[in-house]
Amino acid sequence: MSTVSLNDKIPNNVDLSSDKRLQRALEQWQPGFLEWWREMGPDGFQACDVYLRTAISVDSSGWAHFGHVKMPDYRWGIFLADPEGDRRIGFGDHLGEPAWKEVPGEYRNPLRRLIVTQGDTEPASVEQQRGLGKTCPSLYDLRNLFQVNVEEGRHLWAMVYLLHSYFGRDGREEAEALLERRSGNPDRPRILQAFNEPIEDWLSFFMFTTFTDRDGKYQLLSLAESAFDPLSRTCRFMLTEEAHHMFVGQTGIGRVIQRTVDLVRAGKDPSANGAIPLEMLQRYLNFWYTVSLDLFGSEVSTNGASYFGGGLKGRPKEERFADHRLLDGAARVELVEDGQVVEREVKPRLAVNLETRSAYQEDCQSAVDKWNKLAAGVGFEFRLPSPRFHRGVGAFAGLFFDPAGHRISETEFLRREPEFLPSEADQAYVRGLMAGPVTEPRRFANWIAAPARGIDGRPVDFEYVRWNEA
Ligand SMILES: [Fe+2]
Ligand SMILES: [Fe+2]
Repeated sequence: MSTVSLNDKIPNNVDLSSDKRLQRALEQWQPGFLEWWREMGPDGFQACDVYLRTAISVDSSGWAHFGHVKMPDYRWGIFLADPEGDRRIGFGDHLGEPAWKEVPGEYRNPLRRLIVTQGDTEPASVEQQRGLGKTCPSLYDLRNLFQVNVEEGRHLWAMVYLLHSYFGRDGREEAEALLERRSGNPDRPRILQAFNEPIEDWLSFFMFTTFTDRDGKYQLLSLAESAFDPLSRTCRFMLTEEAHHMFVGQTGIGRVIQRTVDLVRAGKDPSANGAIPLEMLQRYLNFWYTVSLDLFGSEVSTNGASYFGGGLKGRPKEERFADHRLLDGAARVELVEDGQVVEREVKPRLAVNLETRSAYQEDCQSAVDKWNKLAAGVGFEFRLPSPRFHRGVGAFAGLFFDPAGHRISETEFLRREPEFLPSEADQAYVRGLMAGPVTEPRRFANWIAAPARGIDGRPVDFEYVRWNEA
């Protein structure tokens, strides 16, 4: 295992001190990052001590160290999974050739674009979530929010390291621009739309961490296959952090469901008792799942095909497949022609996005199945909406479908929208429940059940966040 220098100004396991130029460049970027964190990171909690885990090594047995730290003192650093000896390219036109230690000139632009697009999502989500601390349902949840936030900050470091190390001046400029764009800002928005959507309540946060962080998992799995070995190793370590983000979302929604079904089983009306009705949860699910589907790009994509052909971005767990070149045969995709949904055959590389998205959809279904187990017997079943519904990208963008995938008119869609997606009334109700923070260690907000267990073997009522008297 590679050694981790935790005491360096920038903790790392890439032997940063041996490359003085790179070290200096990153140390110059660091104050801008901290300034961004203070301006756009969690609003109002920078002086609290938060029980956070920090990476101290990259092997699976013990990478995380837990302890109370102030978020601005978090040890953001650069961690790559250990190299595999003699790693070979696993797909595309360069199948079987040695993985690249440097960026080939012909792939410089598309690789930079992939890294910038991934990197941009990391600070974006911190910005989206910055106000949530003020309405936290418990100290346990507050700590989980901050853990996700500091790790998204670290993911930004991971991408900035690649930009600085391998892309020269353009890379340094892109690293600056990552600190300049702002989620939801009309003049300088974040690159992908899901990362410009406001996250103003905890229901949206839990749906985001279930569905949008799970998109992140699939993007990272695809990039972990990359022929560009430093990108692959970076993403492999990021995946270990991502798992926790999805845990926060999955169990967060699970606890909301638990609270609601406990009331239903006791013969009580959830909305008269300050809990969230299951139909309303379904509408939040519909929104966040479909904006996350958009992140996979078009069903038929020439970009996707050229990323695959070049070996830049593969399919998640590429080794599952028999054919790693995708030059023969055809893939079936659903498209819209003359207003009709039709099935067409396309060259298989053109449908790589769809292949990745299908794996994601299956994974989302297993999350929904777990929620349905919690709600068993109350006469309600959560469902993933059809991928035709509410799409902003791809074959179905701009057309109107109901969540079951039936084509409907725009008029009907608008009339029934409050049945499909979170309405103004839903949002007002949810925000009304989350009017203030719950910060006593033993308490949980009324709309959510306590978790089954605490973090890192600590009790549920542990003081996960401490305020310091001024
Ligand atoms: Fe991330
Ligand atoms: Fe994440």
